[in-house]
This record gives sequence, C-alpha cells and structure tokens, in this order.
Amino acid sequence: MIDIRHVSKAYLSSTRETWAIGDVSFSVAKGEFVSVVGPSGCGKSTLLNMMGSFMAPSAGTIEIGGRAVRHGTIPDKLGYIFQKDTVLPWYTVGRNIALGLKFRGLPERDIRETVGRLLGLANLAGCEDMLPHQLSGGMRQRVALLMTLACEPEVLLLDEPFGALDSNTKMTLHRELLEIWQKLGQTVVMVTHDLDEAVTLSDRVIVLSAPPSRVVLDHRVDLPRPRDVFALRDSDDFGQNVRAIWAVLGREFQAAQARAKGAENVA
Ligand SMILES: Nc1ncnc2c1ncn2[C@@H]1O[C@H](COP(=O)(O)OP(=O)(O)O)[C@@H](O)[C@H]1O
Ligand SMILES: [Mg+2]
Repeated sequence: MIDIRHVSKAYLSSTRETWAIGDVSFSVAKGEFVSVVGPSGCGKSTLLNMMGSFMAPSAGTIEIGGRAVRHGTIPDKLGYIFQKDTVLPWYTVGRNIALGLKFRGLPERDIRETVGRLLGLANLAGCEDMLPHQLSGGMRQRVALLMTLACEPEVLLLDEPFGALDSNTKMTLHRELLEIWQKLGQTVVMVTHDLDEAVTLSDRVIVLSAPPSRVVLDHRVDLPRPRDVFALRDSDDFGQNVRAIWAVLGREFQAAQARAKGAENVA
C-alpha cells in the first residue's frame, strides 16, 4: 500500500543545509499498522509530511496505493492526524466531525447518521453538542480522530497523536484505536516517541537513526491480536519486544545527543 524508496530530505537555509533524512526505504502492506520511532529531529514528521504530499523529498520516491505521491496533491483516501489536535474551538463536537462530509456535499441525513455512528465508535455518544473547551484532552483527541475517520481514509498517518496525554488516558485511546482499526482495517503509519505505545499497537516498528537518518531496524512485533492493551504490558513477550527495539533505539538516542553536543561545542 505504501512504498518509500531511497527518500532523503535536506532543509536549506541561507547559511546551511541540514540533512534531516539521509536515505530511508520501507514498505507497508495494506491493512498493516506500522510505527516509526527515532531520536528527536531524525525527520519523522518530515517523512509523514512528504507522504501526505505537503512537501517534496530531495531525492527518492513515495508511492501510496500504487501511485507516486506528488507534492501538493493529497493522495486519495488519506487521513492525517497531527500532534496538536486540530479541532475547531467554535464548533460543537458534532459539527467538527461533520466538517469533511459537508465539504464532500453529503446530504444532511447521511451526515447525521455517520456522525452518530462515529461517536458511538469512540465512546463519545451524547457529546455531540459539546464544545471543545468542555472536553478533556483525551476526548478532544478522539474528536480529531473521528474528524479524520469521517472521510473513510484507507491510509492513516498519525504524528504523535497521543503525545500530550497522561498515560492512563493514552492507554484507553490505544484500546479504542485498536478496536476502530480492527473494524475498519486502515493502513496506518504512526510516528511516536513512546516505545511502549509503538509495541502495543503495531505489527512492525521501524527505527530511524540519528540524522541524517536511515532505517536501522525493522522489527516485527510478534504479539497475537486482538491485544489487551492493559494486560499486555505485564507479559514477558511485550518486554522482549521492547528490549529488542531499545537495544537499537537507545544507541541512536545517544548518537543524536553526542552529535548535538558536538555541534554546541563547534558553535
Ligand atoms: N520547515 C523546516 N525548515 C528547516 N528545518 C526544518 C523544517 N522542519 C524540520 N526541520 C529540521 O529537520 C529536522 C527533522 O525535523 P522533524 O521531521 O520535525 O523531526 P522529528 O519529527 O523526527 O523530531 C530537524 O533538525 C528540524 O529542525
Ligand atoms: Mg516530529
């Protein structure tokens, strides 16, 4: 479903060229849930932005659903969730979720039906008329997820969607996301800095190196589904998966830190 081939990305400023992504290649099968982890600044958000067509790679190609992604043309059936929730504060929950459907010109009755169904899916039934400021962080992030799901994306790109939430709320949302994903079967690429989260949710975890980044590990998470996100954490198998990834990720964190220190000393 997704094919990333020898993608690199440099950011140019008037004084220098920063290579965020060195050479990254990987594929994601239809319906697969893949997480991308790596040190801060290794180009994870950059990679998602290029997949979403918001910026162009410096070199390499990205295909989604068999079509090359072209800068500025959002691929069909793509949904994107940013780290900061993108809920509109002056609209009710219901109107926020309906927004994309209105753009697509769906009849009012179909919109109401879809919004009702989605609210049930994310345990938000009864919250339709609330305003975003009346919701907790976790509820707002659920609404952001539903806004994206309303347009029935086949591919979901998630950039640290739970980064700002406390761990309890986060795990509840993990459970809900897995339930929704198991029902709807999207292809998911999620960026996260939380290794436990990556292992809990994913079929595969891809580790990027310190910048200029490349893939240093493509780890298959061999935990059966459906997964109980709370019970899972106690299991030896969970710990084994986390440790196998950390052995590589921890090294890259240190490499990124050492490089940042080096740059400070030069400056
Ligand atoms: N628009 C931009 N202009 C210049 N540099 C950028 C821009 N966006 C990101 N960068 C730089 O590119 C590198 C990768 O950024 P990013 O993709 O946000 O990393 P991550 O999401 O892995 O933390 C960082 O060094 C960042 O400062
Ligand atoms: Mg980022």
